[in-house]
Amino acid sequence: MKYYITTPIYYPNSSPHIGTAYTTIAADAMARLRRMKGDEVYFLTGTDENAQKIVRTAENAGMDPHAYVDGIVDKFKAFWRALNISNDDFIRTTEERHAKVVQMIFTRLYEQGDIYKSEYQGWYCTPCETFWTENKLVDGKCPNPDCGREVELLKEESYFFRMSKYADRLLNYIKDHPEFIQPASRRNEMIKFIEGGLEDLCVSRTTFKWGIKVPFDPKHVVYVWLDALINYISALGYPDNDKYKKFWPASVHLVGKDIVRFHTIIWPIILMALDVPLPEKVFGHGWFLGKEGGKISKSKGNVQDSFELINRYGADAIRYFLLKELQYGMDGTFSEDDLVERLNSDLANDLGNFVSRTLAMVVKYRDGIVPEPGEDSDLEREIKQLSRDVKKGTEDKMLACDTAGALECVWQFVSKCNKYVDETAPWNLAKDPMNEKRLNTVLYAFVECIRILGILCAPFMPGVPDKIKPLLGNTDYFSDWEQADKWHILKPGTMIQKGEPIFPRIDVKAYLDELNAQAERSENIVQTADVMVPLKEEISIEEFAKLDLRVVKVLQAEKVEKADKLLKLEVEMGSEIRTIVSGIALHYSPEELIGKKVILVANLKPAKLRGIVSQGMILAASDNGVLEVLSVLKDIPSGAQVK
Ligand code: ME8
Ligand code: MG
Repeated sequence: MKYYITTPIYYPNSSPHIGTAYTTIAADAMARLRRMKGDEVYFLTGTDENAQKIVRTAENAGMDPHAYVDGIVDKFKAFWRALNISNDDFIRTTEERHAKVVQMIFTRLYEQGDIYKSEYQGWYCTPCETFWTENKLVDGKCPNPDCGREVELLKEESYFFRMSKYADRLLNYIKDHPEFIQPASRRNEMIKFIEGGLEDLCVSRTTFKWGIKVPFDPKHVVYVWLDALINYISALGYPDNDKYKKFWPASVHLVGKDIVRFHTIIWPIILMALDVPLPEKVFGHGWFLGKEGGKISKSKGNVQDSFELINRYGADAIRYFLLKELQYGMDGTFSEDDLVERLNSDLANDLGNFVSRTLAMVVKYRDGIVPEPGEDSDLEREIKQLSRDVKKGTEDKMLACDTAGALECVWQFVSKCNKYVDETAPWNLAKDPMNEKRLNTVLYAFVECIRILGILCAPFMPGVPDKIKPLLGNTDYFSDWEQADKWHILKPGTMIQKGEPIFPRIDVKAYLDELNAQAERSENIVQTADVMVPLKEEISIEEFAKLDLRVVKVLQAEKVEKADKLLKLEVEMGSEIRTIVSGIALHYSPEELIGKKVILVANLKPAKLRGIVSQGMILAASDNGVLEVLSVLKDIPSGAQVK
């Protein structure tokens, strides 16, 4: 089976935030599950760069829009990497592969009479990148209930897309295909909207240059939504590429409820006009609201430093929280307190404790060797049956794009595992040698449960299998979804490890103390654009001269096992080779660093990190938690001193 899933392409007008993250994480979990089921998956995300608001933001920041956008796009990519997003492609609408498809489509629609030239007169809301007619405005402002900001009067020559011509066809399609728009409440909204009549859509502008030129009339640039939506096929190489032929139509366009209208009205009409099949499903999820209410959004400025959150809690915990918090079709709230509570209860306690205490029993009663099980009792039959129901249930919920429902399903199994421990009471069995066989059966079932939990968690928290694998004899049992309800897979005789807790509890009090301490220190804080840097105490030039900084060349780089944030580097410093452990794994892939010249603190006392001796430290600048490794502008031999 083939499976093509997309996220919206995000506006790179500011750094990605936790609200943006939900869609991408949910799409990632769906993509991972389908890959584990053996489907051929294409998972696309990207950035929508030709919007007017991006030019404005860049200009306000005194920057060239290209340079500005490149910087933000790098942050998006780093953000997705830090969150373990497994996208197969990342499309930028400033890429040539996209622009040429947009131009080709624009020309074709013009030639067949679906696009025509006229004059536009009306109101434009830049934050929403949306045109409004006078009668739609509320108190002269943007009628979008989430916006309400000033609109601008526009009067200019424009091209229009004949949406009205396709309204009936679209309405019939939506009525005949109940699965096309989900959840059903949004389908009903869209039906009402179309029944209210569709106006032709303005698809070009002449008052600015940023964007894709209309090929036969280059003083016009293509208006953002027509351009943006086409990404879903331009990325596949529409119309001739094999990838397009294989993966289109999309299985799901996953979007927030704010842009369902564009995806279920404008986009299908573009596709109908091109005679291209429609996507199978558009799913519009709810919003993450801030603690004080109100959508978390870039333009509202109520976003938290998302990189800092990942550094503090790890990608798995953030993914779990977001996927669980947004109940099917509803809005949810993001708060760090709730996140800590979830992490402690669901992950550290329910899941993590089950793993630690059962493995501890295998160590205590069987010296860490997985025993051969005896005959099943009703208790084993029950948990096996539940594994089948849970596997199927989780799949069904994910097919329906219900991530919270899917995790609830997985957690039924987690609860059952804990209950099974209590019901079998191995500590009692261990008291009497008569029960040896029974205890073997129970201990074996424990280890199988851990293996199954590794599989069930993998799509949602891809770090979990990595954490469990070394505990179960370093075998990869976790990439085949179909084995989530199979039993007797793990080999008796396997040596297991007790290991460290897979989700350590967060000490809430210590964390609050740290926040308070930070607030106290903030008196010495210097404010710059958007970074807050506490200044350290003054030092003399002699003290500075004690530092020995060197240019080194990265020869090798690899991830450190079981440590999400660490990379192990081999660096060349003149004729010497050193091993460095560096906390930059969330910001750089190993490949990005190999061959690069970076700056090393070369006379730092060696320190052991995860059992590896690190002979120095790589320097990096931090922009709100995003790390940028320091390098030199011109090539310079490794070993050179930095002074
Ligand atoms: O609309 N809660 O880009 P955008 C949940 N470029 N999801 C949220 C969210 C929140 N608080 N904030 C953002 C655009 N999102 C266009 C899309 S597609 C052809 C063009 C997510 O940067 C959600 O998926 O404003 C929402 O639809 C999307 O980000 C909007 O991203
Ligand atoms: Mg938006």
